[in-house]
Amino acid sequence: MDHILLLFLMLLVSYVQCYEAGLNLENGVKLKVYLSPKITLFPGYVSNKSYYDIEFPKGHIAVKSFNDEVVDEAGDPVSLLETYIHHWTVTRYYQRNGVKDLIIAGNSGLCNHGRSQFFGMGSETRKTSTYVPDPYGIEVGDPSKVPVGYEEKWMFNIHAIDTRGAVDAMGCNECRCNLYNVTQDKDVQPLKPYYVGGLYCCYDGTQCKVKNAFKSVKRNVYFKYTVKWVDWSDSIVPVKVFIFDVTDTWQHTGIHNCLFEYDVEKSTTGVATNTRRSSVSFPTAGDVIYGFAQQYSGGIGAALYGEDGRVLCASKAIYGKGKDIGDEAGYIVGMTTCYPKPGSAKIVKDETVTLESYYSSKKMHTGVLGLFYFLVAESS
Ligand SMILES: *[C@@H]1O[C@H](CO)[C@@H](O)[C@H](O)[C@H]1NC(C)=O
Ligand SMILES: *[C@@H]1O[C@H](CO)[C@@H](O)[C@H](O)[C@H]1NC(C)=O
Repeated sequence: MDHILLLFLMLLVSYVQCYEAGLNLENGVKLKVYLSPKITLFPGYVSNKSYYDIEFPKGHIAVKSFNDEVVDEAGDPVSLLETYIHHWTVTRYYQRNGVKDLIIAGNSGLCNHGRSQFFGMGSETRKTSTYVPDPYGIEVGDPSKVPVGYEEKWMFNIHAIDTRGAVDAMGCNECRCNLYNVTQDKDVQPLKPYYVGGLYCCYDGTQCKVKNAFKSVKRNVYFKYTVKWVDWSDSIVPVKVFIFDVTDTWQHTGIHNCLFEYDVEKSTTGVATNTRRSSVSFPTAGDVIYGFAQQYSGGIGAALYGEDGRVLCASKAIYGKGKDIGDEAGYIVGMTTCYPKPGSAKIVKDETVTLESYYSSKKMHTGVLGLFYFLVAESS
């Protein structure tokens, strides 16, 4: 009896040790799977919460990929038809020991406020590659960069909408104010009369309209995230994270003021594609090595152009076609990514780069997103 118990304990210890260190893959790549804190949902309910000091690989490392998906209490994947991932972001910050104040240690731009995450997506999470090809990596945990007395930590912001029993699930996902019966934003400011949908109407705790007879059943879900990384070494070429928001007003004002969301009007001219465009001066020189667009339902794709009109990186929306998890009809279940041949997508310092975001305008879409997330290896 004692033997068996001992054996069991030994197995448990080795399992825990293995889990702690992460799994070792080829070429020194390590992998670890984590669970976010519990997110409690009810039919129609919106959860938008930040979770500080989440689990993340420790030490001076190069992140190679960051993937996640929503799972239920049993660990089984949850359909977008039930839990819509509006968006999630993972942001680095520095925290002073024992003190509440923190400094956001964000990405390399381009918005002046917000959009400071290193990783982030929405419904496309399951089928969008995040792999950073060799010899590149996203360098984090460099102790020499952390201000004295501070610690490097990570936070999750997760915005999820439970659309079980929803009268109009797509309307809930687009945050239509009438479906949420919202007339004031989360700071109790009245909404502008022309504001019919967007983030001001689906803040934490709001409730989208569900069918009368629908029985309200509480459900707990988690974000299960998988990080791959390698220990830092001089053979890794660091890449910087940039996020270009198509609502950036830079071309008109010279300031990176990102408006975060915009609306797509229903076309009255027969042209079924809405194009939104923004240009900015790029602050550094380097090679684009990876990129993808982030959009909401109705999105077709987006492309990043150099000053002479050459395509630096383009990304297209992949829509689901059925009912299976990962293939939910009408939902963006993935975005294509670009991995330009090294040296083929160079940006020079102060070059004007343009982002175009394309949406279908067969219908109106409210509160849409036009982001381009890309990695740049700086050249000196
Ligand atoms: C909508 O909101 C108004 C006032 O905020 C409230 O009186 C009304 O009962 C709400 N309607 C529903 C269906 O919840
Ligand atoms: C969601 O939460 C984040 C972080 O707490 C906050 O910055 C953002 O304004 C919230 N968005 C909405 C729509 O409430």
